[in-house]
Amino acid sequence: MSVPAPVPAATPAAVTVRVPAKVNVQLAVGAARPDGFHDLANVFLAVGLYDEVTVTESDELRITCSGPDAGQVPLDRTNLAARAALALAGRRGIDPAVHIHIAKDIPVAGGMAGGSADGAGALLACDRLWQAGASRAELLSICAELGSDVPFSLVGGAALGTGRGEQLRTLEAGGTFHWVFAVADGGLSTPAVYGEFDRLNEGVRVPEPTASEALLAALAKGDAEALAATLANDLQPAALSLRPSLRDTLEAGRAAGALAGLVSGSGPTTAFLVGDGDTAEKVAQALTASGTCRTARAAVAPALGATVV
Ligand code: C5P
Repeated sequence: MSVPAPVPAATPAAVTVRVPAKVNVQLAVGAARPDGFHDLANVFLAVGLYDEVTVTESDELRITCSGPDAGQVPLDRTNLAARAALALAGRRGIDPAVHIHIAKDIPVAGGMAGGSADGAGALLACDRLWQAGASRAELLSICAELGSDVPFSLVGGAALGTGRGEQLRTLEAGGTFHWVFAVADGGLSTPAVYGEFDRLNEGVRVPEPTASEALLAALAKGDAEALAATLANDLQPAALSLRPSLRDTLEAGRAAGALAGLVSGSGPTTAFLVGDGDTAEKVAQALTASGTCRTARAAVAPALGATVV
């Protein structure tokens, strides 16, 4: 009896990947390294606000973007999604002729890794569209070339990032955490915030960054009150120095009933941990009404990393 030849897998016409935003529940920052980066102990938590990145065959590499903040997204080759497609195509010697569409729901203001999410999403989507067969390790290595936060966007969940934040160890997150994000008007440049960190710490011996055991335990237990008591961001004084009005946003969120608030990453987004979903809606409404931010969004964590949908 003859065995039928295996049918080759059909090349998909389009691939869509859903990628989450992140918040840093702890961002411990060391002294500036000779390469200009800073060693970190960066506790990432993926949150349920998502961009969807769709790639389709096209005659040339192009990017489009939809969503309320779409006008603020660069559509040229500086976009991490384009750089991801170029990096994978370069490794495989193929023509990066794809149309990348970003359906953007992650706030563009900064501090939530929206650009990194699009880089990780485009990379995974191109790998599937081109059937490039990249291993997880290769995808993570390309992500690390694209930016310090990009590997975490691929992985999601909860993780400790060391080195410049790109070396990840998966962490346990033992429950659902409710968050509210206050989206500021305009952005804050990440290099400028790190530069301000260096300026504020001039002449000071900056300790080695280490993850807080109490914070990791709170995360593993799913204990929101204990996590609230241990949230920490070493970049916060620098972000507040460059954008003093963020103090008003932090105060408004706490006054509205948040357990705690902090600047997310290098800002200017501020993140508030709250006790439950109802409180999240109330705090989001109060923050929006406070006039101290452009808008506020409620979301739960942890969320899955980049996922083909
Ligand atoms: O890696 P990424 O491109 O996201 O970094 C943007 C900038 O943030 C870097 O050029 C650097 O100024 C700063 N940075 C840093 N230390 C890190 C991560 C980022 O100084 N660990």
